[in-house]
Amino acid sequence: MIRSQSYCFLGIITIYFFFCLLLLPNIFASPTRYLCRPNQRDALLELQKEFHVPTTSWNKSVDCCSWEGVKCDTIVGEVIFLELRYCNANTSLKFNGGLFKLQHLRHLDLSLCHLQGEIPSSFGNLSHLTHLDLFGNELVGEVPTSIGSLSQLRNQFTGGEIVLANLTSLSHIDLSSNHFKSSISTDLSGLRNLEQFWAHDNLFFGPFPSFLLMIPSLVDIDLSQNQFEGPIEFGNTSSSSKLKVLNVGDNNFDGLIPESISKLVNVIHLYLKHNNLGGLVLSSILNLRNLERLDLSHNNFRGRIPRSISKLVNLQFLDLSYNNFGRRVPRSLSKLVNLSELDLSYNKLEDQVPCCLWRSPKMYSVKLSHNSFSSFGNSVEVINGKSLSWLDLSSNSLQGPVPQWICEFTFLNNLDLSNNNFSGFIPQCLESFSVLEKLNLRNNILSGFLPDVFIKGSSLRSIDVSHNNLAGKLPRSLINCEWMDFLNVKENKIKDTFPLWLGSLQCLNVLLLRSNAFYGPVYNPSAYSGFPGLRIIDISNNNFVGSLPQGYFANWTTMSFVWHGYTSPEMNYVGTYSPVFDSMDLVYKGVDTDFARIFLGFKAIDFSGNRFSGHIPESIGLFRELRLLNLSGNAFTGHIPSSLANITSLETLDLSRNNLSGEIPRGLGKLSFLSNINFSYNHLEGLVPQSTQFGTQNCSSFMGNPGLYAIEEICRESHHVPVPTPEQTEESLSIPEEPMLNWIAAAISFGPGVFCGLVIGHIFTSYKHEWFIAH
Ligand SMILES: *[C@@H]1O[C@H](CO)[C@@H](O)[C@H](O)[C@H]1NC(C)=O
Ligand SMILES: *[C@@H]1O[C@H](CO)[C@@H](O)[C@H](O)[C@H]1NC(C)=O
Ligand SMILES: *[C@@H]1O[C@H](CO)[C@@H](O)[C@H](O)[C@H]1NC(C)=O
Ligand SMILES: *[C@@H]1O[C@H](CO)[C@@H](O)[C@H](O)[C@H]1NC(C)=O
Ligand SMILES: *[C@@H]1O[C@H](CO)[C@@H](O)[C@H](O)[C@H]1NC(C)=O
Ligand SMILES: *[C@@H]1O[C@H](CO)[C@@H](O)[C@H](O)[C@H]1NC(C)=O
Ligand SMILES: *[C@@H]1O[C@H](CO)[C@@H](O)[C@H](O)[C@H]1NC(C)=O
Ligand SMILES: *[C@@H]1O[C@H](CO)[C@@H](O)[C@H](O)[C@H]1NC(C)=O
Ligand SMILES: *[C@@H]1O[C@H](CO)[C@@H](O)[C@H](O)[C@H]1NC(C)=O
Ligand SMILES: *[C@@H]1O[C@H](CO)[C@@H](O)[C@H](O)[C@H]1NC(C)=O
Ligand SMILES: *[C@@H]1O[C@H](CO)[C@@H](O)[C@H](O)[C@H]1NC(C)=O
Ligand SMILES: *[C@@H]1O[C@H](CO)[C@@H](O)[C@H](O)[C@H]1NC(C)=O
Repeated sequence: MIRSQSYCFLGIITIYFFFCLLLLPNIFASPTRYLCRPNQRDALLELQKEFHVPTTSWNKSVDCCSWEGVKCDTIVGEVIFLELRYCNANTSLKFNGGLFKLQHLRHLDLSLCHLQGEIPSSFGNLSHLTHLDLFGNELVGEVPTSIGSLSQLRNQFTGGEIVLANLTSLSHIDLSSNHFKSSISTDLSGLRNLEQFWAHDNLFFGPFPSFLLMIPSLVDIDLSQNQFEGPIEFGNTSSSSKLKVLNVGDNNFDGLIPESISKLVNVIHLYLKHNNLGGLVLSSILNLRNLERLDLSHNNFRGRIPRSISKLVNLQFLDLSYNNFGRRVPRSLSKLVNLSELDLSYNKLEDQVPCCLWRSPKMYSVKLSHNSFSSFGNSVEVINGKSLSWLDLSSNSLQGPVPQWICEFTFLNNLDLSNNNFSGFIPQCLESFSVLEKLNLRNNILSGFLPDVFIKGSSLRSIDVSHNNLAGKLPRSLINCEWMDFLNVKENKIKDTFPLWLGSLQCLNVLLLRSNAFYGPVYNPSAYSGFPGLRIIDISNNNFVGSLPQGYFANWTTMSFVWHGYTSPEMNYVGTYSPVFDSMDLVYKGVDTDFARIFLGFKAIDFSGNRFSGHIPESIGLFRELRLLNLSGNAFTGHIPSSLANITSLETLDLSRNNLSGEIPRGLGKLSFLSNINFSYNHLEGLVPQSTQFGTQNCSSFMGNPGLYAIEEICRESHHVPVPTPEQTEESLSIPEEPMLNWIAAAISFGPGVFCGLVIGHIFTSYKHEWFIAH
């Protein structure tokens, strides 16, 4: 009963979403003779009128048994199968409608038809139904018990009630993704054949419905994403329970895992994540020898990871992240030869990373970040590293050189060693990582150079070596990384000219060179300076010089593109097609701010702290969605370009410490998002625009401009500190606006005709729907 819904993803300048309707193949009876019985055809035609089914597919002059979505009994010509998904009927079911004259129906699918109102009692006429799918409608009422042999039911009620009590043949119940708001206390024990009970993604509350476990036929229970609370109890479960899947994740269950869990001997998937469960991990869990997937993440479990975890020999997926597990990781973990995904991140684990965690020939992903690991165990015996795709050791206390054995994992896709104390050189073997997409070495004490080893066809998309001691030049082979969207080398000692040659990388979204020893001009009249994909550039605190022509920014097409937002919130961030978002820090509103994710619409230019001269290019006004412009601490001369008034999204504008003269353009007074302005230490003169945005600035934003007037008011305000009234307290003490910490570093670029996002399938398991993103 898992339904796949396909969603398509188009990227040509802007991205459109639409439903790719699953068109049903016409696999029905042959149209050579008229099989369909006239009364069945007439019932269908009646239904066609009620539901507005398009006439082209249901044509009177064609055998009704070959109509789209219809199947007949091949001997007597009765309609036994009807599938009308997405029919958008937008009506209620009539008591004596055509549907109820199709009394031989066995399979009825009216999902996503916008049906409303009561389920009419004439539904009871459909007594042969074994499969009923009413998902995506707003029907309420009782499913008549005369549908005695119904084995599958899928429904969507909006806040309605569902009565199932005596449907003894029912084997599958799917109430998922509705708005049910009640406890589950009804006795369902009459459902003697129930195998699957799915209630995830609702508002169910109350205690754990332990009576479910007394239905001996149950195989699969999914209660996740609800508001159940209290302890989990398996009290009267029979130990011959057939249960294979138990998902109670994303609820408010608390207390300990009960000993009685050991009765679920056949369970293979156990998901307890995102609750308030605590205590030690019991040996009773470790007796569930058939477990293949165990997720205890986001709870309060503590103590050591038990050594006997190696008894779970079938384990393929183990997630213990976001708990309080401490001390050493048992070496025995490496005995789990079928383990392919291991997540121990965000715990208090310490000491050695056991050498052979990744020894399992099937190991695909190891995440150990945010612990206190300080060294690696004896790593000589690394073998079978071929399958490892994801290695995250970030935010630990690891030190010494980057271990040489990393070079054996030639199929690494994502390598994150950031926020440790790794020293020495970056290994040359980077070149053997043929499928590496994301390399994060940020915030270590690495020295030497970024190796010049990037080859044509490289899949690297994101490189962060910021906050190290790297010197030398940017490797010219970076140009081979044609998918690169994120390059961060800030806070190093790199001594090079401006990488104009990166301007041809269509996808480059984020370029951060801050605080290095870059020098020379950023513009060469004989070289194209396109940067078509760029949306964030920080080249501050280097030794760049020279003036910029008025049209300097004209070819930065993405920067000037106006973003209209997308229908899916998932799509609002750079790098969304990648499993991890890019993060960065940026001086924003005067504060070095961490951006864990970068919103696709966020655009910023920081050229501060260099020696640029000449006029500020008028073409800056093309960037209507620019949020941050910092040109402070240069030697810009001339007037402030009036085109700045066209940047309606501007929040931070710092032109301080330049040689600007003339008046502040009146139009800037209209920029309603501008909250952080600094014009200090220039030669500006005349009247400060009289607007709220200007009036609320700090006096120091205008000082050092003897010719400016009408700032007395502003300066008087900020010189004496008034006793705040209660209302003012809240405003002035609150953080000055949400610093967008949730913004994802998005890297989907759509420069002219180019789409930089790769294609991936994104599976939202909680919805049991598959989403496909394609273009
Ligand atoms: C119905 O089918 C007949 C014969 O195939 C065809 O001539 C006619 O155009 C069809 N009508 C519609 C409404 O599609
Ligand atoms: C459904 O019908 C109602 C009333 O007839 C109308 O207001 C509503 O817009 C319709 N909805 C759709 C999705 O067609
Ligand atoms: C239900 O079935 C009975 C006969 O079994 C028939 O008389 C009645 O008309 C049917 N109801 C509808 C609404 O078709
Ligand atoms: C279910 O069946 C029992 C006994 O057969 C009966 O007493 C009860 O009323 C039925 N419940 C419903 C909702 O039909
Ligand atoms: C377990 O069964 C006993 C005896 O049948 C009963 O008293 C108790 O309430 C049941 N516990 C649960 C949680 O159903
Ligand atoms: C590992 O998985 C394979 C199948 O993928 C299975 O045959 C084997 O028994 C498993 N090993 C253990 C120790 O469970
Ligand atoms: C790195 O080493 C320095 C100096 O020994 C120490 O202060 C710092 O805490 C270490 N950082 C990490 C992440 O271990
Ligand atoms: C912008 O592109 C045009 C056409 O490709 C080119 O002639 C012009 O020199 C470019 N401008 C800059 C500043 O690079
Ligand atoms: C602009 O850049 C300078 C130097 O990098 C920095 O000190 C200042 O805080 C920045 N201004 C804003 C408003 O972020
Ligand atoms: C600013 O301009 C004045 C002359 O107008 C010049 O003397 C001074 O050197 C300039 N300052 C800078 C930093 O360029
Ligand atoms: C601002 O944008 C408008 C519309 O594109 C344009 O006509 C105008 O010249 C721009 N103003 C400046 C000062 O660049
Ligand atoms: C404006 O810039 C000057 C010089 O860079 C600095 O001293 C002052 O604190 C800044 N004012 C504000 C409000 O950031």
